[in-house]
Amino acid sequence: MPAIDPAALQPRDAYRLLTSVVVPRPIGWTSTLGADGSLNLAPFSFFNAVGGNPPTVLLSIGQRQGEPKDTLRNIQATGEFVINLVDETLVEAMNLTSGEYAYAVDEFALAGLTPAPSVVVRPPRVAEAKVALECQLTQVIPVQDAHYTLVLGRVARFHIQDGLLRANGLVDAALLKPVGRLAGDEYATLGQVFELKRPA
Ligand SMILES: Cc1cc2nc3c(=O)[nH]c(=O)nc-3n(C[C@H](O)[C@H](O)[C@H](O)COP(=O)(O)O)c2cc1C
Repeated sequence: MPAIDPAALQPRDAYRLLTSVVVPRPIGWTSTLGADGSLNLAPFSFFNAVGGNPPTVLLSIGQRQGEPKDTLRNIQATGEFVINLVDETLVEAMNLTSGEYAYAVDEFALAGLTPAPSVVVRPPRVAEAKVALECQLTQVIPVQDAHYTLVLGRVARFHIQDGLLRANGLVDAALLKPVGRLAGDEYATLGQVFELKRPA
């Protein structure tokens, strides 16, 4: 088995290789507001949960031609964002919102999505999303030697569609039908769900 040195790869190929092995990645479909009140929505698959209590999530946002993407610009300006979870019914709309649009473009309108008011933050959530997390910015961390910025946020409110939350306090993944990102233009739906008891 060859041991590949990423330093020997073109940057794009290192990215392609990494994103083809760290799979599937959840998609944090992020709504933000600009300081001028403009609405923005874009997907990020360098996204995950990083702490349980207080519940904390992370996005890693790249640059566009050396400039911050609209999402980072807005989060830094306002300290707030909403992570909407992408399910099978929303994948086409999610993809539409990933285009490199001008700052003023409202990707909710562009993709035919409905902004629903949040409870504690100003950016709206995607009404069509079954799960949305209202987040307050806690940290912005540049990634060393990479053109990425980590954004950490604390979940201030969970929005869970009726019927998804089971009596045991867990969301039913089979009902949520999340979509994960693979490499390039490939995505995955949930396979078989099984249980594995942890050792004592
Ligand atoms: C499924 C998917 C996942 C993505 N994940 C990321 C990511 O983790 N980080 C990133 O910088 N861009 C990611 N992108 C690209 C951004 O969505 C794209 O650059 C978008 O235009 C950013 O929008 P904004 O300028 O409104 O923030 C992803 C695109 C898709 C389709």
